[in-house]
Amino acid sequence: MVMTASSANRLSVDALVFDAYGTLFDVHSVETTAESFFPGRGTDLSRVWRAKQLEYTWLQSLMQSASQGREDFAALTAHALDYACAALRLASTAQIRHRLLDAYLDLAPFPDALATLPGLAPLPRIILSNGTREMLEPLAAATGVAQHMDAIISVEAAGTYKPSPRVYQLAVDHLQLLPLRIGFVSSNAWDAIGAKAFGLTSIWVNRTGVPIDRHGPAPDAMIESLIELPALVREA
Ligand code: LAC
Repeated sequence: MVMTASSANRLSVDALVFDAYGTLFDVHSVETTAESFFPGRGTDLSRVWRAKQLEYTWLQSLMQSASQGREDFAALTAHALDYACAALRLASTAQIRHRLLDAYLDLAPFPDALATLPGLAPLPRIILSNGTREMLEPLAAATGVAQHMDAIISVEAAGTYKPSPRVYQLAVDHLQLLPLRIGFVSSNAWDAIGAKAFGLTSIWVNRTGVPIDRHGPAPDAMIESLIELPALVREA
């Protein structure tokens, strides 16, 4: 069972690590651009695009071998868009594709993220994301998120994708803390479960009230909004 913030004991951590896409940045903010090109289909396009993007990260991680390289998150994001347009029979063009991929570099931050991050200091805060540095750094800067982060770490340094333990190890290496002393915050349930399986103190942000996935250990706490985070990690 996942403890809700109100029922969980306060979590004692010395640093916070945030997932990026879906947690700090709203991947479905591409819907507006998608809707402008494909009226009535923006939501479907955004959902299939995101689902395939993640699926491709997992599949390429499993398929990786000496002869089969892994592509970066920008490449997989583009492949997933191409799949989504084909699956939904949307007549995309090179220009539309370009505009949609640009929209991914310009995602909206979640309002609860912007409201919460400043108050979490002086706890060290970092981003650990599947994204490449080229995707993450301009986005974090443009949205104002970067000024509340001490570092931005891309899975590229581990050469694989979440939820590989090698990715969560990057946070341990960077922070030089025991895994349990690191609070990992993600709205992606599979990511929160991956972090818990690795040994981090894991906090799942369940904004949409979905059930927890069943394939691994439940996160240490569940919150409905990042607004609940400061009270959860503050020492009683
Ligand atoms: C990330 C993916 C999980 O930011 O959205 O790592």
